[in-house]
Amino acid sequence: MQLSLSPPFAFASSRYSQVVFLMVPGVLFCCFLLLFVFLQWHRPKDKRLPPGSMGWPYIGETLKLYAENPNSFFVNRQKRFGDIFKTHILGCPCVMISSPEAARIVLVTRAHLFKPTYPTSKEKMIGPEALFFHQGAYHSKLKKLVQASFLPSAIRGSVSEIEQIVLRFLPSWKNTTINALQEMKRYAFDVAMISAFGEKQDLETEGIKHLYHSLEKGYNSMPLDLPGTPFHKAMKARKLLNETLRKLIQKRRQSRRQGGGLLGVLLGDNDNEKLNQLSDSQIADNIIGVIFAAHDTTASVLTWILKYLHDNEDLLEAVTREQEGIRSKIVEANRGLTWDDTRRMPLTSRVIQETLRTASILSFTFREAVEDVEFEGYFIPRGWKVPQKPNTYMPFGNGVHSCPGSELAKLEMLILLHHLTPTYRLVLALIDWGSH
Ligand code: HEM
Repeated sequence: MQLSLSPPFAFASSRYSQVVFLMVPGVLFCCFLLLFVFLQWHRPKDKRLPPGSMGWPYIGETLKLYAENPNSFFVNRQKRFGDIFKTHILGCPCVMISSPEAARIVLVTRAHLFKPTYPTSKEKMIGPEALFFHQGAYHSKLKKLVQASFLPSAIRGSVSEIEQIVLRFLPSWKNTTINALQEMKRYAFDVAMISAFGEKQDLETEGIKHLYHSLEKGYNSMPLDLPGTPFHKAMKARKLLNETLRKLIQKRRQSRRQGGGLLGVLLGDNDNEKLNQLSDSQIADNIIGVIFAAHDTTASVLTWILKYLHDNEDLLEAVTREQEGIRSKIVEANRGLTWDDTRRMPLTSRVIQETLRTASILSFTFREAVEDVEFEGYFIPRGWKVPQKPNTYMPFGNGVHSCPGSELAKLEMLILLHHLTPTYRLVLALIDWGSH
């Protein structure tokens, strides 16, 4: 039997259409219910799913996750069921794993059995050809190029450029109340822009910044593509952003000037064969992807660092002393901060490490089983999501998809703290946002 929404059906007035419209959700719900029961019970008898609760049909344990603090949601289940347990959240059957050994299996040793998984709306906004969404040859080709742009040897020359960005921001924070996260985002965004496009600004840069900010507003919106919705506006900005980026790519290709930054590296990669050259849209998606990955993450860590330093006066004083020591040598020699200076900040570096540990910036990394997997004596059916538990110390992930930007992130944090701690006093202002 085929169901089609032809005009007579869609416009049928009368009680009949009301009955049909009431029936459709009912029938759909029953289908979901049957599918759920089928997925729950249709598996070989000898294969044992991890312990845990799948909650209600379809909604699973989503409401419980939202009602509780997410940390206690997972900790309570871990206490009850152990390091590997099943649950059902946001419409997906999941297996939560929480031991470092198990995380290593999923992310490193048997990574080929688990592919990264993101909501489709995120993929549309960032661009489906960005490396996060891929496995295999395409992913490893791109990963090599991205990694090459962010190795210590590649970023050590950016210290003075990043320092200039810090020096431009500092006066605007003097004797005023700032929203720390917003300001850290502005700072990390400017660093991400020079990492993506190089130090020399192109004509298109301002337009790209503006369009990226419009896109960003829709990142966490409901994926409803209807006129007026934040998602729709974000998708419109995404289209324009793509056009602007492609113009810039064409311009750099035609002038045979690859330019700096990741864009320069991606344009320069042709493996000596036209066939292997990355297409304009592959380059555009990966540029947007890296800007996306680079700035919210780093900004969140910096905001937590400011909070922890504010709350721990002795630590703040010790970090300030470390930075003052370096500052006085720099002033004496009448020079700017160098890469080598940033390697002589052991205490500040440990503050960054500890913040990465306690603040759990990316609380979960999600993977999806690409086939039925036998795992630590349990069975994980194909298609199930596998998130790792927060607080296992892997701030930059592990395995093939681990973060290529970790050194840059740490560098930009060190440079900001170098200038901020000796000259600024941190005061926490509690603001009632309702009255603003
Ligand atoms: C403190 C700041 C940062 C944190 C905590 C962080 C964390 C992470 C984590 C945990 C992953 C792995 C995700 C997964 O396994 O699914 C990741 C991937 C990634 N990060 Fe970062 N990141 C940070 C900064 C940066 C920066 C500055 C850049 C850019 C230069 C960057 C670029 C990327 C990219 C491109 C990926 C995807 C890699 C792949 O799929 O192979 N990140 N990041």
